[in-house]
Amino acid sequence: MRLEGRIAAVTGAGGGIGGAVAAAFRAEGAIVVEADLKADGLGPDGLVIDVSDPDDARRLTAETVARHGRIDILANVAGTSLRHAFLDVTREDFDRILRVNLYGSFYCAQEAARAMVGQGYGRIINIASISGVRAGAERTAYGISKAGVISLTQQAAHELAPFGITVNAIAPGPVDTELTRVHHTPAARANYRRMIPAARYGLCEEMADAAVFLAGEAAAYVNGVVLPVDGGYLAAGVRED
Ligand SMILES: NC(=O)c1ccc[n+]([C@@H]2O[C@H](COP(=O)([O-])OP(=O)(O)OC[C@H]3O[C@@H](n4cnc5c(N)ncnc54)[C@H](O)[C@@H]3O)[C@@H](O)[C@H]2O)c1
Repeated sequence: MRLEGRIAAVTGAGGGIGGAVAAAFRAEGAIVVEADLKADGLGPDGLVIDVSDPDDARRLTAETVARHGRIDILANVAGTSLRHAFLDVTREDFDRILRVNLYGSFYCAQEAARAMVGQGYGRIINIASISGVRAGAERTAYGISKAGVISLTQQAAHELAPFGITVNAIAPGPVDTELTRVHHTPAARANYRRMIPAARYGLCEEMADAAVFLAGEAAAYVNGVVLPVDGGYLAAGVRED
């Protein structure tokens, strides 16, 4: 088992990708503290937190350490989305997306890293998105927030490496979860399938497999990367059919 005895905290664990990450970490031998804004979808020991609240981010690390003595792995999976045209996005919506996706990831990473520094070991995995690398329709706030998550990953990787901490990101392509059920129209789904060389959406389990790799010893020398798990979307070029 690749994460035997490791202590992990997973945000967004009540959702599609976060739930799969928590399950995969457990299957590899880790003890997992699940956290989410919503209690349903969490196990009985789950923590209800709002990652955009710095006090809740502090509570996530404090509670994990209080229960299990340390925090070896943090997976920042919690995220939210809204679609809006660039010209129409309101300041409130822009603010909300940035607060959850970017500020929330930063708050949770900073709190976890403070504990990891004392341990001399840590793995932080952020969930970015292909939208943080390439623009798309009505993804202004979302794309900007995920580009910020990529920069957060690189900054933290640079500064935390001397403490035995690695910080990496996964950039998922489209995955069929609650998030995309709400925001992907039938036309958007058809366009994605056309543009993705694998010609399909990804699975939550495929994102979780990448998180297990980045959390394990096999990735000890992998730091500051953004790993696309996107069926080839970011690499793809012109088609001839
Ligand atoms: N589904 C996709 O196609 C896709 C693609 C790229 C990136 N992502 C990213 O993957 C992550 C997981 O998304 P998902 O597709 O599993 O969606 P999801 O809606 O199933 O899960 C997201 C979870 O985050 C939780 N959450 C939202 N705001 C929160 C907050 N303030 N504090 C704590 N928890 C909060 C939600 O309650 C939910 O359980 C997100 O960061 C999302 O941006 C998803």
